[in-house]
Amino acid sequence: MLSSSRKLSKLLRKLQFPLQSENRSISTQDVIKRENKHAAHNYHPLPVALTKGEGVHVWDVEGKRYIDFLSGYSANNFGHCHPEIVKAIQRQSAILHHTSRAFFCDALGEYAQIITKLFGYDKVLPMNTGVEAAETACKLARKWGYRKKKIPSNEARIIFAANNFWGRSLAAVSASTDPVCFEGYGPFLPGFTCIPYNDLTALEKILQDPLVCAFMVEPIQGEAGIIVPDEGYLRGVRKLCTRYNVLWIADEIQTGLGRTGRRLAVDYEEVKPDILVLGKALGGGVYPVSAALADDDVMMVIEPGSHGSTFGGNPLGSRVAIKALEVLEEERLSERAFESGEKFRSELKDRLGNNELVNQIRGKGLLNAVEINRNFADAWDVCLKLKENGLLAKPTHEDIIRFSPPLIIDDEQLQESISIIVDTLNSVKPADN
Ligand SMILES: Cc1ncc(COP(=O)(O)O)c(C=O)c1O
Repeated sequence: MLSSSRKLSKLLRKLQFPLQSENRSISTQDVIKRENKHAAHNYHPLPVALTKGEGVHVWDVEGKRYIDFLSGYSANNFGHCHPEIVKAIQRQSAILHHTSRAFFCDALGEYAQIITKLFGYDKVLPMNTGVEAAETACKLARKWGYRKKKIPSNEARIIFAANNFWGRSLAAVSASTDPVCFEGYGPFLPGFTCIPYNDLTALEKILQDPLVCAFMVEPIQGEAGIIVPDEGYLRGVRKLCTRYNVLWIADEIQTGLGRTGRRLAVDYEEVKPDILVLGKALGGGVYPVSAALADDDVMMVIEPGSHGSTFGGNPLGSRVAIKALEVLEEERLSERAFESGEKFRSELKDRLGNNELVNQIRGKGLLNAVEINRNFADAWDVCLKLKENGLLAKPTHEDIIRFSPPLIIDDEQLQESISIIVDTLNSVKPADN
């Protein structure tokens, strides 16, 4: 044991770059160079190298402070290193971190009771990442289709909305309409069909096919560019799915847990999906925790051995999720996101109304987007300027910048952020590009 750890230290000493534990400084360029050399290039990060976070702020390796307006793709709803969440993970990791579901454990039962009560479902199926929970929902729906709707074996269809995004598995990319996501990964899973988003006529037409078991949809499309459907769309989806005996799966992995100014985005229209899928912020930003929730009529089609995950529902994840839900409620984060979001959009609209760079400002709560006029600038270049000015945001497409800060952002921090965004956008001249 000792000799192998000595070998490892020797190897680490030989590495090209200093280790953080040696407390030597490392530059942004060093970090980028090393990561680019040894980590797969499946992302295109902004050139900033972060080393520390607290609340709404993150710091780079040179000590520059930024306001985080991405929140780890909405996983950090509670900000960085929320003291209660950090305490929960520290406490539980010193007691019992993983058991597998070969045994019962006290934390899972408590978590399951809390999350089902909060969202009003009979049961939760715990998973880890968002894509696993969404895929769980698809499996549940297919099995329900065969068992309950009596769809002939292997013929069940699931309907999705165009421009959906629910992750990177083969099932998820089989449902994708974005060539960047699916190209080169075929053959794709059969039985998936896409219809236009926000189109109840198209939905009604396709739901009439008796082979359809489910319609999966995001209440606001996140990765597509914060696409907010018409008021009444979700109520319409609920009505049609009930009428045609089709399960409605709501993917609230990005929109859920206060992000849009309600506990769930579907709460705006007071409707309850048959299967609710949560992830991202459910793990408090510190640990991957995801969930599919449903009532017994749907959930009980899954029997022991027919679905699962080694880590899903482990004691550590369960305690973190309990704490995340507690923080969400105790700190009134949905209400705060609603109020901050209203201020954010109205001030940006007031102060950028005459800026020809801006096509549209949209969103709900703290899930917002500024759509850039491509004739004037590229969203990537604007994000680089925002970074220089101390605010981190990421484009979702060439012309859309997502603004989704931690929900704990206070008024002063919000005002500072608005000023940075307004000044940056006002400083971009067509000639810059
Ligand atoms: C709406 C939605 N569903 C599912 C996912 C996939 O989650 P994960 O990356 O944790 O697998 C994402 C990720 O961005 C998402 O935005």
